[in-house]
Amino acid sequence: MGKSNILFLFLFLALNSFNSGAVPNELDLRLEKIIRDNQLSPLKKLEDIPQPLSFLGGNLFAETLLSGPKDISCMTCHHPMNGTGDSLPFPIGTGGVGMGRGRIQQSGLLSHRNSQPLYNLGYPEIEHMFWDGRVYRNSVTGELSTPVESLNGSDPQLIEVTKVFKSSVSVQAIFPLINDAEMRGKDNDIADAKTDEESWEAIMKRLLEGEGKNKYRELFKKAYPGTKKFNIGHVGQAIGAFIQDQFYVADTPYDRYLAGDLDAMTDSEKRGLIAFTERGKCMQCHNGPHLSNFLFKTVATPQFNSTVLKEPYDQGRYEVTKQKRDLFKFKTPALRNLALTAPYMHNGAFATIEEAVDHYNDPKEQLEAFSLERVDLSAYTDEFVLDRDSRRNKLRVNLISIGEVRRGINLTPEERLDLIQFLKTGLLDYRFQRGRSLGP
Ligand code: HEC
Ligand code: HEC
Repeated sequence: MGKSNILFLFLFLALNSFNSGAVPNELDLRLEKIIRDNQLSPLKKLEDIPQPLSFLGGNLFAETLLSGPKDISCMTCHHPMNGTGDSLPFPIGTGGVGMGRGRIQQSGLLSHRNSQPLYNLGYPEIEHMFWDGRVYRNSVTGELSTPVESLNGSDPQLIEVTKVFKSSVSVQAIFPLINDAEMRGKDNDIADAKTDEESWEAIMKRLLEGEGKNKYRELFKKAYPGTKKFNIGHVGQAIGAFIQDQFYVADTPYDRYLAGDLDAMTDSEKRGLIAFTERGKCMQCHNGPHLSNFLFKTVATPQFNSTVLKEPYDQGRYEVTKQKRDLFKFKTPALRNLALTAPYMHNGAFATIEEAVDHYNDPKEQLEAFSLERVDLSAYTDEFVLDRDSRRNKLRVNLISIGEVRRGINLTPEERLDLIQFLKTGLLDYRFQRGRSLGP
């Protein structure tokens, strides 16, 4: 052991013995440096949400009156028991039947991307929403850039709506409502409105003057004391506040370890964190307190899609910016509670964490070897086709911005197991795991 290591050991003991009483081992010493070099830190809670606001948001989150045909709610695709997702590769919107893995398509339309988990949203550093970032709120100026023009810019037409929002997730929450494949549907008062703005007004009418009025007039008043006129911004803000309040995840072995409890992670998880930062190069993108820098990147995920669509691929960020360098790029996901949020990637291509890690081991080969037999598509009546175009596959690999990952990280079998262990249990808040098994 070198002189500097002994010094670390001493410092580490001095800093942490109060917390855990554990003696740091070789792994703790290596991690001490990694933690410092990468400025790793636990995720701090945002300010407390007033409970009447979160309560309103929670009711709206589970409210089927928000969907045109009154058959689904946010919860259908973001269920707390399914890791705030739906456990399917592609969510089934209004018209589908059942919940989670038991949900089937029947007459429902599909979303063509995987339902994103809702953990740890509401932070100002998360300005872009959706896999392609098409909903954006500037956390300093509050200016929006979204698919609905009347919300956008410094002097938006709908300023009464935009001024209510305090975070990007609150803005995002009003978009599934006007998505025909998700919640709006066809042939109902919300879908019959001529514009998106009028659809939002029709929803407010249902809540405050129609079927919902006995419940919601009271809840809105309590959530927004002093406010007389409510609009869709108040719906979004309440749902966003609920998500921020209820889906805050930060009590993982990883967080407790960073806070100084050396026993919080097992040796395997510690070796996994070392592989994550060093040989895996994962922290080139999955860094910061969320284990994501939220930048748009590609990792050459195999792409497939329903034959209902014109193309078997998804151009991701390119669809928003029309910049060639953004082709096939998606917002880098945060990783806490990963074990609960299968399947993975923007299209649910990987059913398990093992498959995701194996992909990084050799993206080019894995992309070429991918077959749709590996994806559980049994819930759907749509047919699916895999994009096998060799030019596009080459581009997918070439656009990976980290050389080591582009060439494949080539882990040893031990590193692979440890990395999987870290991702699976090291990042899991057991509060959310209750009653669930961790395997597929
Ligand atoms: C039919 C399924 C479905 C329903 C219903 C649904 N969502 Fe989603 N949600 C998705 C899908 C799919 C995505 C990713 C879409 C994309 O990136 O293009 C998503 C993305 C999100 C995101 C973005 C998260 C991030 O990290 O960028 C949030 C927040 C969200 N949904 C909240 C809601 C809320 C709130 C509701 C109810 C008002 C709702 N969703 C209803 C399927 C659904
Ligand atoms: C170049 C940036 C980059 C690097 C390096 C990187 N990732 Fe990712 N990661 C992403 C992006 C972008 C996605 C989403 C890709 C998609 O949907 O096609 C992703 C998705 C994932 C997912 C799926 C998460 C989910 O919720 O669906 C896991 C797991 C993951 N990465 C783990 C890792 C591990 C482990 C490493 C290191 C071996 C790593 N990543 C390296 C950018 C990166």
